[in-house]
Amino acid sequence: MALLSTHGLTAHYGQFQALFGVDITLERGECVAIIGANGAGKTTLLRALAGVLPNRADAIVYKGEPIGDRPADAVLRRGIAMVPEGRKLFPSLTVEENLLIGAHARKLAGPWSLEAVYGLFPILKERRHGPGTALSGGQQQMVAIGRALMSNPDVLLCDEISLGLAPVVIRDIYNAMPQIRAGGAAVIIVEQDIGQALKVADRVYCMMEGRVTLSGPAAGLSREAIHNAYFGAAA
Ligand SMILES: Nc1ncnc2c1ncn2[C@@H]1O[C@H](COP(=O)(O)OP(=O)(O)OP(=O)(O)O)[C@@H](O)[C@H]1O
Ligand SMILES: [Mg+2]
Repeated sequence: MALLSTHGLTAHYGQFQALFGVDITLERGECVAIIGANGAGKTTLLRALAGVLPNRADAIVYKGEPIGDRPADAVLRRGIAMVPEGRKLFPSLTVEENLLIGAHARKLAGPWSLEAVYGLFPILKERRHGPGTALSGGQQQMVAIGRALMSNPDVLLCDEISLGLAPVVIRDIYNAMPQIRAGGAAVIIVEQDIGQALKVADRVYCMMEGRVTLSGPAAGLSREAIHNAYFGAAA
């Protein structure tokens, strides 16, 4: 049985339908990448998984339990944590306070603590008493990842963690991924950079206009197949 799976998952914003019957699976310990053009529905899929968008209970199954109708706080308590698009730090709080908020969400023993997060991203320890907003974009992204880890999640959802960052900073952030996975979390990353996605993920799903158009092992996907899945076969 998969750790997490979706079954005909849909999503709506008012009258607008953003997802049309999405079926994905995530196994224990796996890293899955979701790729696709702007507006494909990647963030919407993560929001649905995190319980931010309402769904049928059986549209999302986690550890054998239907959770599609559970609110975000209940989903987080069960062990699904999100690193949101745009980082969304609390501007009036210090780095350390931002991290501690993550621990507050789910008080569970596990590999992640303040010290462990500082071990993963040492620069955050140096800056721990400063405001999160005084950090560079890459450091803010580290805080957002650390905050999610502080809940000791079984599933970590990462939405475009490399967006707007310099290549050397992106490398630093993705270098943390093996340690995060070694801690036991399965990971879903949304990534615009296809090369990066193929490098870090075991499997890839490509989305277009609210549907999965391609899926497979990262190592086995051709450039042409990805191009077609991104833009449609006629493009
Ligand atoms: N809050 C919202 N209200 C209305 N429509 C929305 C909202 N958020 C997203 N959408 C629409 O839903 C569709 C999917 O958006 P989504 O943000 O999931 O795409 P995405 O794949 O994450 O794109 P990007 O790469 O730009 O982040 C788009 O057509 C978008 O305009
Ligand atoms: Mg998005």
